[in-house]
Amino acid sequence: MSLVRLTEVLGGSGPRAVGAFNVIMIEHAEALVAAAERAGQPVVLQISENAVKYHGALEPIARATLAAGEAAAVPVVVHLDHATRTDLTEEAIALGFGSVMFDASKLGYDENVAATAAVVAKAHAAGVDVEAELGEVGGKDGVHAPGARTDPDEAAAFVEATGVDALAVAVGSSHAMTERTASLDLELITRLRDRLPVPLVLHGSSGVPDDELVRAVEAGMRKINIGTHLNVVFTRAVRERLGADPDLVDPRKYLTPAREAVADEVTRLITLLAR
Ligand code: G3H
Ligand code: ZN
Repeated sequence: MSLVRLTEVLGGSGPRAVGAFNVIMIEHAEALVAAAERAGQPVVLQISENAVKYHGALEPIARATLAAGEAAAVPVVVHLDHATRTDLTEEAIALGFGSVMFDASKLGYDENVAATAAVVAKAHAAGVDVEAELGEVGGKDGVHAPGARTDPDEAAAFVEATGVDALAVAVGSSHAMTERTASLDLELITRLRDRLPVPLVLHGSSGVPDDELVRAVEAGMRKINIGTHLNVVFTRAVRERLGADPDLVDPRKYLTPAREAVADEVTRLITLLAR
């Protein structure tokens, strides 16, 4: 049984920072577990509300991901990513997720606090951790907004008022970048780390180059969310395979190299973040 809560892998004896990677299809869950086992490190497998929209339901992809995590030789957190619907957080809790992210970052501060605190109460009663977001990280809806910043005093008050276990903060990254060119506000990360009693989460990490990711971890980031970069790696491998053999029709023939390319890149990233 390898399924654990988020706070268990972010605790004292865990890696310096844990990689949290998005699962769209079962091939991602397989690749991520293989990579974590090769690296000998824990991993977070996260299913976003957008992935749920793609499938039309949470349960099938969730059960496949939970089964992959359960069979793993390393600790695995199955996490709900960017949920704006409270019913989805409740379904994830009932399915056995280790944590849920409730994203009310589009709401005003008071509404965000009230909605997040209600999710925390239900999750904690079931032994599930909660991540929330304050200071919206841009790019979720196609609007690139690397200028957003989280205020440390407001963040401290938010954590106190809601009881969340981890906090996503805006420090210069933006979602859905396909080029790794972002630079982060490292000084703000250090101030947030010193001010907050919970682990910090970096969203939109696909746009952040390796050396800047390492600096962000040194400054205090503990959970590093990467989604789009895996799409770049996966799709490049599919394109290469199909380009090399235009007559190929069996999906297993092009999904195998794509799954392997993701596993290789995630092994490299998990190792980079853990040291
Ligand atoms: O919550 C998921 C992450 O923030 C992924 O963002 O696709 O830009 O790496 P990304
Ligand atoms: Zn995100």
